[in-house]
This record gives sequence, structure tokens and C-alpha cells, in this order.
Amino acid sequence: MSSTDTKAAKLIRKCVIPAAGLGTRFLPATKAVPKEMLPIVDTPTLQYIVEEAVKAGMEDVVVINGRGKGSIEDHFDIAFELETTMRARGKTADADRMRAIANLVRIISVRQKEPLGLGHAVLCAKSVIGDEPFGVLLGDDMIDSEDPGIGQLARIYQQHQKAVIALMEVPESETHMYGIAAGKDLGNGVIQIDHVVEKPKKGTAPSNLAVIGRYVLPPSIFPILEKQTTGVGGEIQLTDGLATLQKTEGLLGYKFQGQRYDAGDKVGYLKANIAYALKRPDLRGGLLEYLREVVKTEKP
Ligand code: G1P
Repeated sequence: MSSTDTKAAKLIRKCVIPAAGLGTRFLPATKAVPKEMLPIVDTPTLQYIVEEAVKAGMEDVVVINGRGKGSIEDHFDIAFELETTMRARGKTADADRMRAIANLVRIISVRQKEPLGLGHAVLCAKSVIGDEPFGVLLGDDMIDSEDPGIGQLARIYQQHQKAVIALMEVPESETHMYGIAAGKDLGNGVIQIDHVVEKPKKGTAPSNLAVIGRYVLPPSIFPILEKQTTGVGGEIQLTDGLATLQKTEGLLGYKFQGQRYDAGDKVGYLKANIAYALKRPDLRGGLLEYLREVVKTEKP
């Protein structure tokens, strides 16, 4: 096997989920409950993200958390008393469902002691990731797709042996809310990025291609992030690190397949709840009936 073959053979088996943010946009709900534990219908947003990673073949999920995030670890652990009580009451299927969450994947918790930014959060996973390419999934971005979003990116990484980030077209009026990338269209949704910038000021965005929270990165991002100075909002930005990576090794973008919901925004969160509830046979009928009623009676 040549060294290139060895490199190509390295599957993406580890991923990082930053979950140390304060969740101020969802106060007071997030005063005592981590933002990542807020439910879409009846399942914490973080569980959907972990399930996406597992579906894409991830074996180790590194959750970067901070103070007051203990319930995240509890959620992915065995709830012995709950399960025992449920089994005693004959609710075996429910107990099995709870056990399945604990058996989903190996979760490794890493503490980010200060909220210094997304780039810093990813850097906190350095020693767990080691010398392998890895995925990053941001909990605010829900990607509803049969073919998991992070798996789509992992395939592009395997093919090109280059860092790849998820991209989506957004209206011009929203470009200041995202990382924005521009570059050459290589076909099949792949973009060779020549410029990426975090939250450009209104009217200065190089394109309308927004960075959505899925990334597959080489371990060479870590030394870059170690040197990264603060950027937008006084934070160590992952996008600034990616801009350096683009110059040194190259960077691809991928227009992923699937419906994206911004669960970090209140309207986006509500939309995700409705969309996921409509997919549930037990909820669809009742919810549709109510929505039709609302459309009929509510004034704009
Ligand atoms: C983060 C990234 C940004 C990206 C966005 C996608 O920003 O820094 O580049 O476009 O996620 O959701 P945040 O929304 O955490 O401010």
C-alpha cells in the first residue's frame, strides 16, 4: 500500500459536537437546561445530531461542554432507575428505547472551561481526535436527510482528500449572519473555495453561499487554531482557521442534500418542531387540523 492509499483508507470515525454555548437566545428555557437538550417534538436536538453522526459511521463522538451541561452526559448514559421502573410496569418497549440511546455510540465529554469561540471549542478536542480527519457538527443546524449530512461530506473528503464544509445558498439579506464562502464550481455540488469569511458586514459578502454547521477537517486544523487570534465578536472563529487552511492545503465546499433547519433561531426552532411532528404518524393528523384552523382564523 502506498502512503496515498494509507491516507485514503483513513475513514472518518470521530466527530466533534460543540455544546458549550450559553444558549442566551433561548432564555429563560436555557437558564438551567442546556440549549442542546431542548426538544424537537420529544427528542433533544443533540440526539438528532448524534444519530446523524452514528448513521454516517462515526464511532467516537466528542461533545465539548461547559458548566451546567451534566444532563447531556446523563441523557446518553443508562438510566437504571427509570428503566427498572418502566420494566416493572410492563413498559418494556419504552425501557428498550431508553437503553438504545445509551448504546448509540461512545460519547467522550471534553470541557471547554471558557466560552472563547467555536474555533477554540473544536481545538479542545485535539488530544481525543489525534492524527485523524474528523467531522464537526453544530447542534443549531438540523439537517433532515435520509443520507446523513456529515456522511455526504465525509464521502467528498475521502474522494478529494481535502477539508470540506457544508454550504447552502441564503438570501443576500442574511449573509451577515453566517460564514460565507466563494469559489469555483467543480460540478456535482462541489466548490473549490478561494475565499471564506466569518459574518461579513452587510453589502460586503463575496457570495450568498453560507457555511452550514457540518465540516470534515484534517488534524492540521489544530495547529492553525492554536495560533488563531480573535475575530468577529472577540471570539476564536473556526471560519478564520478555515481561511488559513484554504491557503495552505485547499478547502472544498459541498452543497449538501437535505432540508436544513436553524434550531438556534426561535422561528427556525418552531419550524423544525412542526416539520418533525408532521413526519410522525401519531401526531400528523391532529397537528394538521390545528394548523389549518390557524391559517383560516389568524390575521396576518
Ligand atoms: C457558526 C459559524 C458560522 C456558520 C454558522 C452556521 O455561527 O461560526 O460560520 O455559518 O455557525 O449555523 P453561529 O451561528 O454559531 O454564530
